[in-house]
Amino acid sequence: MTVERTLAIIKPDAIAKGVAGQIVTRIEEAGFKILAAKLIHMSPEDAAGFYIVHKALPFYRSLCAFMTQGPCLPMVLEGDHAIQRWRELMGATDPAKAAPGTIRKAFAASIEANVVHGSDSPTSAAFEISYFFSSLELCPRSNRGD
Ligand code: CMP
Repeated sequence: MTVERTLAIIKPDAIAKGVAGQIVTRIEEAGFKILAAKLIHMSPEDAAGFYIVHKALPFYRSLCAFMTQGPCLPMVLEGDHAIQRWRELMGATDPAKAAPGTIRKAFAASIEANVVHGSDSPTSAAFEISYFFSSLELCPRSNRGD
């Protein structure tokens, strides 16, 4: 058993389409523990900082604009091999390549409007979780070692 934490985001397109609840249900049914969650509307600076690793890529500006078009729902998920398992549940970045049964296959419209995000490694999970959440926001208290 390798318990990990990962950052998931239900993106603005999913909130606008009203499928956030269905995505949360899939997360819960897959056995993840939701340690923290908050609905936020990112500023351009927030999005630019979050996706800083993609700064040199041609879709960076468009991606940042997309992520600021409405509220999104970042969450911290915990579970056995959570980083890889959440990526499997999301499906491929491009929904046209996503496997049947995945969240992106079910709900995503395009490679940009792809409804969910997930950390791709322990290093990025640590950065991304701390980008949105302080240690005091990770619930319940027992998970923080109090
Ligand atoms: P995400 O998992 O949030 O990580 C980076 C995001 O960049 C990705 O999901 C997509 O939304 C977006 N992305 C990746 N590749 C492309 C691309 N070729 N064109 C537009 N957006 C992309």
